[in-house]
Amino acid sequence: MVRRALITGATGQDGWYLTELLAGLRYEVYAFVRRTSNPSTVHPATHAVVYGSMESYESLFDAVSEVKPDEIYHLAAQSFVHHSFLDPFSTFDINATGTLRLLQVVKRVCPGAKLYFAGTSEMFGNQPAPQSETTPFAARSPYGASKIAAYEHCRVFREAFGMFVCNGILFNHESPRRGREFVTRKIIDAARERKSVVLGNLDARRDWGHAKDYVHGMYLMMQKEEPDDYVLATGTSYSVADFAAAAYRAVGLDWRDMVNVHYSNMRPAEVNVLCGDASKARIELGWSCPNSGLANIIEDMLNGTS
Ligand code: GDD
Repeated sequence: MVRRALITGATGQDGWYLTELLAGLRYEVYAFVRRTSNPSTVHPATHAVVYGSMESYESLFDAVSEVKPDEIYHLAAQSFVHHSFLDPFSTFDINATGTLRLLQVVKRVCPGAKLYFAGTSEMFGNQPAPQSETTPFAARSPYGASKIAAYEHCRVFREAFGMFVCNGILFNHESPRRGREFVTRKIIDAARERKSVVLGNLDARRDWGHAKDYVHGMYLMMQKEEPDDYVLATGTSYSVADFAAAAYRAVGLDWRDMVNVHYSNMRPAEVNVLCGDASKARIELGWSCPNSGLANIIEDMLNGTS
C-alpha cells in the first residue's frame, strides 16, 4: 500500500526537505498550497498540489477528504516572529485557529490519520536554558502565543478524542532554502555578495540546526506507535554576532567592518537565549543531527547546494 502524506506549508523550507525525504521513502506527497498571484515552489517530487488556506475550513475539509492522507505534516504558519507584532490578528488566525480548523477536519474526515504539528522553541520565551519538553511555556511574541494556543489544542484533541497528534518543539533550523526575512539568510546573502548588512539585536542567542535533520525528526515522531511531544535541538547556542562573525570570516571578511545595527530590526520583546535539550528525541526516536553544526550550516548556506 502506498502511504499518502499531506503537507501544509509545503512551499516553505521544511516542506521542501520533507517532501524530498518522504518521496524518497515512496510516499505519495500532496502539497497543500495557498493560491497566490505568484506561483509558489513545491518540490518536483510532489505527487499533486491541492489548493487551499489555513483560514478556510472548507478548503481544508475538501483537501483532506480528497487526499485521505495517512500522515499529515502541518507546517503552514505565519512564521516570522517580527511580523507577528505588526499583525497579531492574522498570525493568530493562521497559526492557532488554522490549526484548530485542521484538527476538527481530521477528526471528522479521517480520525485515524496521524498528524504532526510544528511547535516551536519560541513558546519557551525567556525560560532558562536548556529548554526541554518539561519547560513551561512563556511566550514573548504574538507568534509564540499563537503557537502555544495551537499546541494546546493538539494536546486536547489527542487526549479527548484519542487522535494521533505529535507536537514537535523545534529550535531554529536553517538551510539554503531559509526565507530571506530570517537573520541567518540575511547575513549569508550579504556575506556572499561581500556587502554590509543592517541587523537588530546582536546579543540574542539561538540554537541553530540544519533543516534536513529536523524534517527527519518529524518523520521519526510519526512512526511511533503512540503520539508524543519532542524537542529537536542541537544543544549548542550562538549569538547573532557569533553567526555574523563566522559567516563573514568564511568569505575572508571581518564582521565588525560589515555589520550595522538599526532599531527597526529590534522587536518590542525579545527571546534572549534558546538552547534545547533533545535527549528525549535522541533516546526514544534515535534522532541525531549530522548536518547541523554552525560551520556546516554556514558553508551549506553560502554554497546554496541543497
Ligand atoms: N529576522 C531578523 N532580522 N532577526 C534579527 C535581525 C534581523 O535583522 N537582527 C537580529 N535579529 C535577531 C532576532 O531578534 C532574533 O533574536 C534572532 O535574530 C533570530 O531571528 P530570526 O532569524 O527571525 O528567527 P526567530 O528565532 O525569531 O524565529 C525562528 O525560529 C523559531 C524557532 O525558535 C523562526 O523560524 C520561527 O518561525 C521559529 O518558530
